[in-house]
Amino acid sequence: MDTAAFGARMRDLLTGHALTTLIGIGHRTGLFDAAAAQGPATSSELADRAGLDERYVREWLGAMTTGGLFELADDGRFVLPESHAVFLAGARASNIGPSAGLLQRLDAVSPQVERCLVDGGGVPYAAYAALGPMGEHWRHIYDDHLVSGFLGAVDGLDARLRAGARVLDLGCGSGHAANLMGREYPRSEITGLDLAPEAIAQAEAERAAMGLSNVAFVVADAADLAPEPAHDVITAFDAVHDQQDPAGVLRRIRAALAPGGVFVMVDVNSTGSIADDLGDPNAAVLYAISLLFCVPTSLAAGGTGLGAMWGREAALAMLADAGFDDVEVLPAPRPQNVVYVGRI
Ligand SMILES: C[S@@+](CC[C@H](N)C(=O)[O-])C[C@H]1O[C@@H](n2cnc3c(N)ncnc32)[C@H](O)[C@@H]1O
Repeated sequence: MDTAAFGARMRDLLTGHALTTLIGIGHRTGLFDAAAAQGPATSSELADRAGLDERYVREWLGAMTTGGLFELADDGRFVLPESHAVFLAGARASNIGPSAGLLQRLDAVSPQVERCLVDGGGVPYAAYAALGPMGEHWRHIYDDHLVSGFLGAVDGLDARLRAGARVLDLGCGSGHAANLMGREYPRSEITGLDLAPEAIAQAEAERAAMGLSNVAFVVADAADLAPEPAHDVITAFDAVHDQQDPAGVLRRIRAALAPGGVFVMVDVNSTGSIADDLGDPNAAVLYAISLLFCVPTSLAAGGTGLGAMWGREAALAMLADAGFDDVEVLPAPRPQNVVYVGRI
């Protein structure tokens, strides 16, 4: 890339950052949903629809339209084309609004991470929890893909869950996956386990609102997972690489499976090598999330700082060390993830 082209790319990066911030604002204030649901609008019409201040909405539309997210119709109205709304509106996994919000929250913690670069150490999970729930993007991913995508990819698992199984969701966060499993598989007993009390409180509130009697949540450290009661199915969605001692937790998981049990580990799809990740369009954002969240939270807890980009080879080696000898690696319904299936 020559100097001029690289300069243009740097300008585009700044534009992307600014637009990401404004996408987060548009997502949370309902501007995209208002534009998608009711069609082309002037700034006043869109502000009225969303119940917002027109002066600010006009400036937001200025950035959105010159940035290419909205289009300007001949009558001066602002249009969010359906092909754009797929990525900006609606409670669906393709909506990047929640991910924009996540990046904004990580920005808020970046001064603390910056200090870690100088002094070492980490940033405790509580610093992130104080900014509010971070898992909205995963909620939509679970709504769209949990049953048919992640679980459906595993041979025989859907039938087993429908027949009734004892399931543990380890590192369940705010519990949406566990609650969806409880609703979809009423004969199964689901336990969600997480270290974070505020996440478990949200999980329990959602369970109660969904009226589920086959789901329970516990605040516990996965490092203390006991072999009894044994589980038929253990799931870990985006949770193993964040553990203080991932290898130890995998051994605990292996020991907590009943004979014939299955472990489904959904984790980040990476190679473990920066050189091999070069062509992956998702890699830079995933490394950034790893830097701003996964590594500092692990190091703050005295962990290994494994990071999200540990890669398939390291994951398979750690699974093998834990006693999962013959692990299947399946594609996930989204390219950022991969599904590891260990059976005993
Ligand atoms: C990236 S979040 C994923 C949460 C959830 N599975 C989801 O997809 O929304 C990782 C979760 O692992 C939990 N966690 C980290 N270390 C843990 C430990 N030692 N024991 C239990 N949970 C832990 C964190 O509290 C956090 O909720």
